[in-house]
Amino acid sequence: MANYDVIIIGGGPGGYVSAIRCAQLGLKTACVEGRDALGGTCLNVGCIPSKALLHASHQLHEAEHNFAKMGLKGKSPSVDWKQMLAYKDDVIGQNTKGIEFLFKKNKVDWLKGWGSIPEAGKVKVGDDIHEAKSIVIASGSEPSSLPGVEIDEKVVVTSTGALELPKVPKKMVVIGAGVIGLELGSVYARLGTEVQVIEFLDFITPGMDSEVQRAFQKILTKQGLKFTMGAAVQKVEASKTKAKVTYKLRKDDSEHDIDADVVLVATGRRPYVDGLGLDALGIEMTDRGQIKTDDQWRTNVPGIYAIGDAIEGPMLAHKAEDEGMAAAEVIAGKHGHVNYGVIPGVIYTAPEVASVGKTEDQLKAEGVSYKVGKFSFMGNGRAKAVFQGDGFVKLLADKETDRVLGCHIIGPGAGDLIHEICVGMEFGASAEDIALTCHAHPTFSEAVREAALACGDGAIHA
Ligand code: NAI
Repeated sequence: MANYDVIIIGGGPGGYVSAIRCAQLGLKTACVEGRDALGGTCLNVGCIPSKALLHASHQLHEAEHNFAKMGLKGKSPSVDWKQMLAYKDDVIGQNTKGIEFLFKKNKVDWLKGWGSIPEAGKVKVGDDIHEAKSIVIASGSEPSSLPGVEIDEKVVVTSTGALELPKVPKKMVVIGAGVIGLELGSVYARLGTEVQVIEFLDFITPGMDSEVQRAFQKILTKQGLKFTMGAAVQKVEASKTKAKVTYKLRKDDSEHDIDADVVLVATGRRPYVDGLGLDALGIEMTDRGQIKTDDQWRTNVPGIYAIGDAIEGPMLAHKAEDEGMAAAEVIAGKHGHVNYGVIPGVIYTAPEVASVGKTEDQLKAEGVSYKVGKFSFMGNGRAKAVFQGDGFVKLLADKETDRVLGCHIIGPGAGDLIHEICVGMEFGASAEDIALTCHAHPTFSEAVREAALACGDGAIHA
């Protein structure tokens, strides 16, 4: 039992970042985490391990498809799955240990166990009750399944099980063409699995610019992923080694079956708030099960804040981190700010897909008068040199003021390129500002500048 200024519940990207910022601001801080390692879903069973497998499988793809073209001859590497998982686990370990080190460095106490809030100002961990002037709930999210689908994490898996399969499956059915389904689907497709994606809607990655959706689906199809669109999964029947997925096509209500060795259920996530005692505290929730907060991340109960996947907004690690830092500033009596209009989204497939700001579809719906500058990576020398000419940069700017309103990139390094537009948007940049900024040659980032030039007098290499 100890007294703290702040106790944060949850050691994921939102929680641990908030804890470090609180400590840096001079607050006596503890972070409650029940897993054996800090870092939450993102570091342990999400963003980081999936990026390791995406990287490894992409290297295999390069060896199989592009090495010979570059004069690198010889047999392509074969997959040692155990070693690939060991590499992934090593990456996780390095990252989670890094957070432990940062906690020690910043004097944040890690309270090991699952926390609950018996009353405002108190956090219970195991048998201990700790007192805190402020409490931040950063308990994250969990996969949400479908009715008629039982997850066993062996044959019918969420992203967690998909990162730990005992072997590379021959056939995988992915339910849901969202971020998780496509990232993990493309890992296994590159490792030789036959991947069939079943999606309820008529397009992939809902919320993304529709032109990018179409281009992305074409590229993934070229890479071997198969898509069944407009199909609602009804049930999954599983034995110990196989599963049968039944879906209904929305266009004619016809029912179909498909067999698989593994079924990945990637139909979204929901806030994880079980066991916190929110009901008894009277914490207000949205009808989607998210904790309601005001614009300073305060819940309706004084002294209790909430951030990240447990509240409204996109379920993204970096959104949670930003809220974590901002909430810390508020608790320390400063001003906390998150610009929700400039939160990038990235899909880490190859090529990557990244976006920020408004989509063209949104601008049309809002009746905004806009212009589009588009540039294909085919016109980018660096991209062509590394076999990555697929994709484009699409910049959207206000027709009258030239102010940048959004950017959508599919192509090499998209997840890094997008940040020049994020910074630009934070500073209220015009497309001309981007176009007049000297970009080093030869870099992928020249494609961003060319898209900006295309908003004005025209791109040079188009
Ligand atoms: P998602 O919400 O991105 O996609 C779910 C898909 O499943 C949708 O396209 C939906 O139409 C489809 N679906 C729902 N019910 C269905 C049914 N009965 N039959 C067929 N299709 C159905 O969810 P996802 O991919 O599970 O990701 C969860 C969260 O995690 C998202 O908020 C995502 O942003 C986040 N995430 C972000 C990553 C990144 O930023 N790179 C990586 C992984 C996850």
